[in-house]
Amino acid sequence: MEYCPTSLLWLGLLLTALLVFLLSRRKRTNLPPQPPAWPMIGNILNLGTMPHQNLHSFQAEHGPVTWLKLGSVNTMVIQSAQAAAEFFKGHDLTFADRKCPHALTALEYDQGSLAVGCYGGYWRALRRLCSAELLMNKRVNETAHLRQKCVDSMIMHIEEEMAVKQVTAEQGINLSHILFLLSFNVVGNLVLSRDLLDPKSKDGPEFFNATNRFMEWAGKPNVADFLPWLKWWDPQRIKASMAKDMGRAMKIIEGFVKERLEERKLGGKIRATNDFLDALLDYEGDGKEGPRKFSLQNVNIIVLEMFMAGSETTSNTMEWALAELLRQPESMKRAKDELDQVVGLNRKLEESDTEKMPFLQAVVKETLRLHPSLPLLIPRNARKETNFMGYDIPKDTQVFVNAWSIGRDPDAWEEPLAFKPERFLGSNIDFKGQNFELIPFGSGRRMCVGLALAHRVLHLGLATLLHCFDWELGGGLTPATLDMRERAGLSVRKLHPLKVLLKKRSV
Ligand code: HEM
Repeated sequence: MEYCPTSLLWLGLLLTALLVFLLSRRKRTNLPPQPPAWPMIGNILNLGTMPHQNLHSFQAEHGPVTWLKLGSVNTMVIQSAQAAAEFFKGHDLTFADRKCPHALTALEYDQGSLAVGCYGGYWRALRRLCSAELLMNKRVNETAHLRQKCVDSMIMHIEEEMAVKQVTAEQGINLSHILFLLSFNVVGNLVLSRDLLDPKSKDGPEFFNATNRFMEWAGKPNVADFLPWLKWWDPQRIKASMAKDMGRAMKIIEGFVKERLEERKLGGKIRATNDFLDALLDYEGDGKEGPRKFSLQNVNIIVLEMFMAGSETTSNTMEWALAELLRQPESMKRAKDELDQVVGLNRKLEESDTEKMPFLQAVVKETLRLHPSLPLLIPRNARKETNFMGYDIPKDTQVFVNAWSIGRDPDAWEEPLAFKPERFLGSNIDFKGQNFELIPFGSGRRMCVGLALAHRVLHLGLATLLHCFDWELGGGLTPATLDMRERAGLSVRKLHPLKVLLKKRSV
C-alpha cells in the first residue's frame, strides 16, 4: 500500500486540530454559551458576510453573552444593553486593549495608531492630545468656520452637478459619493488645513485614491486574523496590498508634514489658528509616560488614521439618515417644518441653529440606533484573565460589543425595528456612552474620540441639505421600494448608494 505524503500531512494536521479542540473544551467549562463549532475553523462560518446580523440571530438561543472560537481566537460577543453596561462600567480597564487586524500591522501602523494600538503610555498621551483637539467643545467650536466652508462647497458641488449633468429621474445624484467627499474634506481642513478636494490641489486626488484603497483593505475579512499561524504567509495578500497603498498615502502625508516643518522653520504662518498637525508637532511629553515627542513616522500614521476613522463613518450615517427620511415622508416633513421655523427661507443656516432643532437631533439618534457605522465597535481585547457576569474569560479574549443588536434590543426599545425619531423627544437618552442601549460611538476609555466633531458634521450637513433642497428618490424608486440592505466593509453602508433628485429651495 502506498502512502501519499500530502494526505498524511493533512491527516496529521486534522488529528492535531481535533486534539487541541477537545482539550480546550475540557479545560474551559465556565465559558459563555457557544454555538456548535467545527474543528480548526471553529465558528468562523457563523459570522457570514454580515457578522453583526448573524450574531444578533444567536441571541434568542444563546442569550446576550455568547462565546465563539474564530479559528484559534477566543471571542466573546455582548448583545444586550444590560450586558454592555456591566462590561463598560465594571470591566472597561481589563478590556482596554484592542485586537489589531493583521492588515494594520503593515508598515508598523499599529505601533503609531490610537484606534488599534495597545493600551499604555503612548496610547494615553495620544488620546489626551486627540481629546483636547477633537472632543473638547471649546476647540470644536473654534473650527465651526471650517465645517461651514466644507458644507458650502458641497452645496456648490451638488448644484454644479445638477446643472451640468441635467440629472434625470433615472440617474439621480449619487449622494453617497458627495457625502464622503464632505467628510473627507472636513478632516483634511481640520487636520492639515488643506482643501484636498480643491481642483488645484496636486496631491489631493492621489491621496484621496490611496486612502480609499487603504480603507478597503482594512475592511476585508482576513483568514490570517483567525488562524494567526498563517500570518507569515498572508494567504489573501491583504497585508502586502495594504502596505502598498498605505505606503502611497503616507508618502503624500510625509510631503505635507515636511512642508509644514519648513514653514514653521521660516516662521511663516498662514493659518489663523493652529491645526491638528501643529498640535502633533508641538507635543512635548514629560518622558515619564509615553513619548517626549511623536516621531515623524507616527505623525504620518496618526494623520492617516483621522481620515480612516472620520470619513466613511460620518458620511454613511448621513446617507442612512436621508434614506430613512425619504422612506418616511411624515418625518421628512416634520424635519423641514422645524428648519423653516428656526431658520426660515431668507437666510443661510448656521451650525448653532441645529442646537434649537430637537427633531433633527432625534433623527440623528434614531439613525445611529438602527445604523451604527461600526456595528461591532472596534474589537477590544482582554489584558488579563477575568470573571465577567459569572463566566471565566481567559486573557487575550477578543470582544465584540454588538451595538447594532443592542439598538434592536426589545427589552430596551419599543417597536425596535421602526424608524421613529419622536421616541427621543423629551427623552434623556443620548449616544455619549452613558446610556448603554445606544452606543454607536462605544463607551468607556476607548470610546470614539471624534464624537464631538462627528456630532457637529452630522447635524450641520443634514440640516443644510434639507434646508437647501426638496428631496425625491431617484432611480425610479418609491419609499416602499427603496432598498435598505447593508454592505459590510470597514464600516457598514448601504448596499446600493442612495440616488436622489433635488430641487433647490430659495435660500
Ligand atoms: C458618525 C461618525 C462616527 C462613528 C459612528 C464612530 C464610531 C466609533 C466607534 C464605535 C469607535 C470604537 C469605540 C469603542 O471601542 O468603544 C470609534 C473609535 C474611534 N474613532 Fe470614531 N466614529 C465616528 C467618527 C469619528 C471621527 C469624525 C473621528 C476623527 C476624525 C473618529 C476617530 C476615532 C478614533 C481615533 C477612534 C479610536 C479611539 C481609541 O481607540 O481610543 N471617529 N469610533
